[in-house]
Amino acid sequence: MRKIDNDHAAPITSGAASSGASATHTDSSTQRMENALIDIRAVSHTFQTDSGPLQVLDKLDLSIAEGQFTAVVGPSGCGKSTLTRLVAGLLKPDSGEVWLHGELVKGPRASVGMAFQNPVLLEWRSILRNVMLPLEIVPERVPAAEHEERARSLLSLVGLEGFEDKKPSELSGGMRQRASLCRALIHKPDVIILDEPFGALDAFTREDLWQTMHALRATEPFTALLITHDLRESVFLADEVVVLSDRPARAQYTLSVPTSSHERTLDDLYTTEAVEMLAILRQQIQLAQGRTPASHS
Ligand SMILES: Nc1ncnc2c1ncn2[C@@H]1O[C@H](COP(=O)(O)OP(=O)(O)OP(=O)(O)O)[C@@H](O)[C@H]1O
Ligand SMILES: [Mg+2]
Repeated sequence: MRKIDNDHAAPITSGAASSGASATHTDSSTQRMENALIDIRAVSHTFQTDSGPLQVLDKLDLSIAEGQFTAVVGPSGCGKSTLTRLVAGLLKPDSGEVWLHGELVKGPRASVGMAFQNPVLLEWRSILRNVMLPLEIVPERVPAAEHEERARSLLSLVGLEGFEDKKPSELSGGMRQRASLCRALIHKPDVIILDEPFGALDAFTREDLWQTMHALRATEPFTALLITHDLRESVFLADEVVVLSDRPARAQYTLSVPTSSHERTLDDLYTTEAVEMLAILRQQIQLAQGRTPASHS
């Protein structure tokens, strides 16, 4: 295991080590993955606001391998959504680089799928037609003859069979978010970016959707960058959880979630190992917020 050289992170290393989870402090090029699908290199970004410059990201490094599911957590306002916009090519960093599939990101890319907290579905289109929308913009990623069949099978996979012809307003919030996940995946993106996609849902629906994510991933392997405030969600869904520091954000701490051979179930969140990982993440968030973390035993 790499030694943690961050003052804040150091006291917590032992907890991560004893739990079997591995912790790494992400630091510059030494941590870079050989075959990263997403490679964020020393990215800094400052917004010019009415009250002066606001530095949001500070030489942030983050690599995500193909097929990996990475969750990013951090204090509110630290720059998580800004990070997703940079990866999606919707924003250019002031300095540093974002690489996707070995290509420098210079603008929006068809190989990215996105889902947000409030799914924006077009009310005048059926659920099926909403899901198929990205294929109208980038039709070539899926053979034309398979477009509708693919949309139907994704909808069936997330439990929306029979709702294909409904309008968005006829669905519950959880169902709309399921449809939005199908839309994010319809064009077989290389990576999906999820910015708090389950944040507006009640706890039961959210947990249902976590399981839907697992089912989707098993059937349609993808690389994911998930932004969340929910530490349980990060541990349940991700292979790796990155804690960002407060603004200007850097990668403060990285936790590897041991991948179990069996499919994760909600009960796995109550194992000693999971409880310890959650305690570590909570401590890291408190450090990021500049608070003294309560110790866990
Ligand atoms: N276009 C913009 N112009 C000016 N300031 C911005 C812009 N976008 C974001 N900011 C500011 O940058 C900071 C980071 O915003 P961002 O939305 O990335 O945070 P976040 O980590 O996603 O927050 P939250 O957890 O609340 O969603 C905030 O202070 C925000 O006000
Ligand atoms: Mg945000």
